[in-house]
Amino acid sequence: MAPRPTPADKFSFGLWTVGWQARDPFGDATRPELDAVEAVHRLAELGAYGITFHDDDLIPFGADAAARDQHIARFRKALDETGLVVPMVTTNLFTHPIFKDGGFTSNDRDVRRFALRKVIRQVDLAAELGASTFVMWGGREGSEYDLAKDVRAALDRYREAVDLLTQYTIDKGYNLRFALEPKPNEPRGDILLPTIGHALGFISQLAHPELVGLNPEVGHEQMAGLNYAHGIAQALWQGKLFHLDLNGQRGIKYDQDLVFGHGDLMNAFALVDLLENGGPNGGPTYDGPRHFDYKPSRTEDMDGVWASAAANMSTYLLLKERAAAFRADPEVIEALAASKVGELSTPTLGDGEGYEAFLADRSAFEDVDVDAVAARGFAFVRLNQLAVEHLLGAR
Ligand code: GCO
Ligand code: MN
Ligand code: MN
Repeated sequence: MAPRPTPADKFSFGLWTVGWQARDPFGDATRPELDAVEAVHRLAELGAYGITFHDDDLIPFGADAAARDQHIARFRKALDETGLVVPMVTTNLFTHPIFKDGGFTSNDRDVRRFALRKVIRQVDLAAELGASTFVMWGGREGSEYDLAKDVRAALDRYREAVDLLTQYTIDKGYNLRFALEPKPNEPRGDILLPTIGHALGFISQLAHPELVGLNPEVGHEQMAGLNYAHGIAQALWQGKLFHLDLNGQRGIKYDQDLVFGHGDLMNAFALVDLLENGGPNGGPTYDGPRHFDYKPSRTEDMDGVWASAAANMSTYLLLKERAAAFRADPEVIEALAASKVGELSTPTLGDGEGYEAFLADRSAFEDVDVDAVAARGFAFVRLNQLAVEHLLGAR
């Protein structure tokens, strides 16, 4: 039996996820529109704690001030009725044709100025609703043609935008941090800041790097052939895991946005273990929202939408249970030791040992029995099989 989620589990969903009408480049919508108020109520009933949204998910692009206020008021009322919170918001800089060459990095300066204003308006709303994370996914920031985009100038403009936004939040006294969401491609042929690594490099060039971190998505890293759990570990290591987008992806292809765990289940297991237990050797874990950015498949009707929303949460909780059982299993503890997983936490140099003492230590080099050390096995396969057995409920 899958455990039932509660708000203490900190599960959140994008309004655009359950609200996706399943329009794709080849076919029309397969589901009706979902009202934001209903989404709030249904997600609360399912045990979620938060809902997130793009400006245009809640307030249609171009709505006048009165209509805007009304949409926000209805939404707020639903939040108050259910206790659901808004931990994160984001801006849509990709749907309207004006953004066809990007927002912050469009070649057209008028577009860039418009995009920045649109984001600032959403930053104000984020603060108003008590969100603490502002996600920036630059889906249209990129190109199809290498000669049509001066990438260095585009990165200058990207930085200019982020620097303006961080300065604005500082001056306004907002309790808000920004999280960049990498993606390698789709909708652009090549998107700027395509991976966790690129985004971390970019952050080091900003005026307020302390206010900018990451919102990595499972499928996006996997679309680049990368290991999501590794990327998350590095983001944690650098203090940059501000938020995350959980979903499922099967290999290097279009962005599938499957239910969490419906792609690489072993990697999802390692991820949940990392988030909940700090990974093999402990270490800081993540205490932010467990945010699902998935798409209920086009084949599903509205019942299927809610079943798939629940599936994300129960898969996460099952993996959390399995990870706890894995960690507590004496055979796993023994296998971890045999694989020297804990030994990696011992510094390579001794306490106070500098390079002089190190170079003088014959046991480190001259006297090493290289063949004997090289012959040692690590027994990683046995450890992984124990993980598989836990995952399959065989232990
Ligand atoms: C995608 C992205 C988006 C973003 C969202 C929040 O591939 O479509 O994952 O869903 O997460 O725009 O910025
Ligand atoms: Mn995605
Ligand atoms: Mn996402």
